[in-house]
Amino acid sequence: MSDAAKLPISETIVWNGVVNGEPRHIPTTDSATLLSLVRDELGLTGTKRSCDIGRCGACMVLVDGQPVNSCLMMAYQCRAASVTTIEGISAAGDDAVQRAFLEEGGFQCGYCTSGMIIAVKGMLQSNPDPSDDDIAEGLSGNLCRCTGYGSIWRSVRRAVELTKLEQAVESRGLGK
Ligand code: FES
Ligand code: FES
Repeated sequence: MSDAAKLPISETIVWNGVVNGEPRHIPTTDSATLLSLVRDELGLTGTKRSCDIGRCGACMVLVDGQPVNSCLMMAYQCRAASVTTIEGISAAGDDAVQRAFLEEGGFQCGYCTSGMIIAVKGMLQSNPDPSDDDIAEGLSGNLCRCTGYGSIWRSVRRAVELTKLEQAVESRGLGK
């Protein structure tokens, strides 16, 4: 028997979880990554494939509220999880972090931007008032090849301000 013939064959599984707030039952394989599940099975191409080895953050999504590199997570590892992609953030309406990136021009080609926004969302959920060191740590897994980071930094600072304003409005019951 050749070595190739001895290789294990992927088995079909059904991924049962929630994507962008919607329960999903997706046939896939036990060798599929979460990145291929969202991009190839669900067509959510806002999540980008770049390095494919966990070095750039372009593929980040939120899994149960935590930012993860979806190229490194197997789909079966997050069965029953709640996954949020950039499309889910957009669909939820006007978003402070996205607005901040637009206002401050925190992108050029935009390839890294989905991952950056996901990383910032995750950071602000656990730490609404990050220091400069916290921001540097929060974005340490996200690479941009275009902007030189100045505009991204200003975007994150603006995102912190806008998020605090939104929370203040909500806590006073003045939201829509
Ligand atoms: S594509 Fe996943 S970290 Fe680069
Ligand atoms: S804006 Fe092009 S890679 Fe970041």
